[in-house]
Amino acid sequence: MTANDPNSAIAPGDFKYVCTLLKDEAAIVLEEGKEYLVETRLGPLAKNSGFASLADLVAELRFHAPVKLVKKVVDAMTTNETSFYRDAHPFKALQTTILPELMASRAETRALNIWSAACSTGQEPYSLVMMMKDHFPQLINWHNYILATDLCTEVVEKAKSGLFRQIEVNRGLPAPLLMKHFSKVSGEWYIKEELRKQIDFREMNLATTWPPIPQMDLVLLRNVMIYFNNDTKCSILERVAKLLRPDGYLMLGASETTWGVEDSFERVVVGTTTLFKRKKTP
Ligand SMILES: C[S@@+](CC[C@H](N)C(=O)[O-])C[C@H]1O[C@@H](n2cnc3c(N)ncnc32)[C@H](O)[C@@H]1O
Repeated sequence: MTANDPNSAIAPGDFKYVCTLLKDEAAIVLEEGKEYLVETRLGPLAKNSGFASLADLVAELRFHAPVKLVKKVVDAMTTNETSFYRDAHPFKALQTTILPELMASRAETRALNIWSAACSTGQEPYSLVMMMKDHFPQLINWHNYILATDLCTEVVEKAKSGLFRQIEVNRGLPAPLLMKHFSKVSGEWYIKEELRKQIDFREMNLATTWPPIPQMDLVLLRNVMIYFNNDTKCSILERVAKLLRPDGYLMLGASETTWGVEDSFERVVVGTTTLFKRKKTP
């Protein structure tokens, strides 16, 4: 490796600069020892953006901070790992308990609002709409609103496209559901238009001011809080608590909790899945 190699090791000062940028722009905390992550993700970006080295890319950020480059850097540093029906049991809990309960209590208004916050490439909200169609066909006559958001422009665009590669549908999607809900288009799998158009995909940064969002019956905020510090988690959970209807549910990732972060939630256990509800005010 040479100093001009886009794959060269990042200087300690440059690493610190990238960490501060990530924290300021997206509240993502990158710890010491994660230099390799910056090198493997920003090295290719430096090359594709015409910089002679990663150091040159960081210098451009430091001295000119072009908005588009900053966004590209932040997006490249996000971890977009996801899959259909990720972890399986949370979707079981939604199917057997949470959705039937919410549907019973919304029988008059016949409207459910659901938000998949940090939806990555869309497997999470698409798993949900497939489940709703297959197990609750009566919902076709409801006025549901399904919002799916993510910080990263590229993943939101991909999610919106409804197109998935073979390797992506191989992860978590049972073959009968693939056959039922997707069609093959130029070597990729395209989710049926009827399902795709049920979801309102938008770009949104959870760490900054939120646009107006309607009151929600169910919020999926899975596998994203792990990247934030306690203050950011607390600020996000406070805002989720305000958005949730009193009997609505919050679902976090398997390793995430509200406990010790924000105390307006109580745990609800369904099988092996833990969800959260707003505590009743006395
Ligand atoms: C590991 S994926 C989780 C995807 C999905 N929820 C799941 O559990 O499979 C985390 C997602 O959080 C998004 N993310 C990271 N920081 C964010 C922020 N400040 N605001 C919104 N989304 C963010 C990333 O772009 C990434 O797509």
